[in-house]
Amino acid sequence: MEEFATLSYGGREVRLPVIVGSEGERAIDITRLRERTGLITHDPGFANTGCCRSAITFVDGERGVLRYRGIPVEELAAHSTFKETAFLLVHGRLPSPRELTRFSVLLNDHSLVHEDMKIFYQNFPRSSHPMGILSSMVNALRSFYPELQNLEEEVNVTVTRLLSKVRTMAAMSYKISRGHTVVYPRPDLTYCANFLNMMFSTPVRPYEIDPEVVRALNVFLILHADHEQNCSTAAVRLVGSARVNLYAAISSGIAALWGPLHGGANQAVIEMLAAIRGEAGGVRKALARARDPADPFRLMGFGHRVYKTYDPRAKILKEVVHGLLDRLRLEDPLLDCARELEEAALQDPWFVERRLYPNVDFYSGILLRAIGIPTNMFTVLFAIGRLPGWIAQWKESLEDPEGRLWRPRQIYVGPTERRYVPIEAR
Ligand code: SDX
Repeated sequence: MEEFATLSYGGREVRLPVIVGSEGERAIDITRLRERTGLITHDPGFANTGCCRSAITFVDGERGVLRYRGIPVEELAAHSTFKETAFLLVHGRLPSPRELTRFSVLLNDHSLVHEDMKIFYQNFPRSSHPMGILSSMVNALRSFYPELQNLEEEVNVTVTRLLSKVRTMAAMSYKISRGHTVVYPRPDLTYCANFLNMMFSTPVRPYEIDPEVVRALNVFLILHADHEQNCSTAAVRLVGSARVNLYAAISSGIAALWGPLHGGANQAVIEMLAAIRGEAGGVRKALARARDPADPFRLMGFGHRVYKTYDPRAKILKEVVHGLLDRLRLEDPLLDCARELEEAALQDPWFVERRLYPNVDFYSGILLRAIGIPTNMFTVLFAIGRLPGWIAQWKESLEDPEGRLWRPRQIYVGPTERRYVPIEAR
């Protein structure tokens, strides 16, 4: 039965349809609000505004639930691979064995980067942040791979090209930034093993592939693969709504993810933990600074716009970190600091009443450190993980019958009309 909400304003009543989602979420459909009432809505940061109907990812922030195409992320982390999860997100179902083999072949066929792109890398200043390089290089891919006439082929080839090349491009930026020889992808290695080999193998010391490390990287990437309408996904949808090519839309998502309030938090967590560990009473001081409204300091890796309980991804990452450090017989003092900080914050009334819990970024940096990823590449790894989600969301927006150019309105609060004053009279 259809549901409605009634808006009373200016002596009139307007009935607005209520949309009911498959998990019972409800939204007031305001697509005709201005036309029927002259009113618009005001919602900074879109905390209360849905931008689309989506069938890709479901997040219940109150219960700490995250599902990709209906499958709980816990099950995918335990049983799937990143490649299979990418297929699930983009195509809406788990691949058959034949489809997975075909997908692997396509990823392998598209894993090389045009040799002329190496010159671009060599001309970035050595101090360039890998996220800035990645965003630029992904945008540059259109110049090397012009649009195919057939839209379906264009989408399918571009999707596979991006998923495969972004891994090679990330490893290339790392190697070239260190003046090392670029290591090419190998057809005999899986998606994650190939990335690790391209990152860490050298002509004089081949990288020894540890299945546990490959497993940990698969889980990391699976957990980062999509997260409904987060900031960078909204950027991809917004830029994509202008019908720009996929490379440019993804490049805008990489740029948004770079921010320390979003994907850049994983790097900021490590920098914060190192600073806390470096001073006496560091944990107590950090919590005090976070509570101080006059201090812009925030506890990085804590809090979330949607999760008002423990981020389910942080729970899994915390377990993976412990298992990996044990396996590698590594001690990371930052892990001890992270656990001390988490314990103190979860008992601090100020944090408890604001329902601030560890999010995906709190433990992810410690996992990446254990694997040997340099801190300034943590957000690049987040981008590699989020790529299938961005692509799936871009594809869905393209196919959305309600889809249109994104162009929000505003409430004007500037000066009312006034005359131009010639310079002589000022
Ligand atoms: C990601 O959206 C997604 O899905 C994102 C993501 C994904 O998968 O795509 O999950 C990935 O980006 C995770 C978030 C990573 N960012 C960080 O860890 C940075 C630190 N976190 C905060 O900056 C903050 O929690 C945000 C930005 C994540 C969310 O902020 P909101 O929802 O805008 O909340 P808010 O700024 O309105 O804060 C509400 C209150 C405020 O206090 P009061 O004004 O009520 O006194 O909570 C406080 C804030 O000061 N607060 C924090 C805090 N987060 C919120 N105080 C200290 N430390 C924090 N981390």
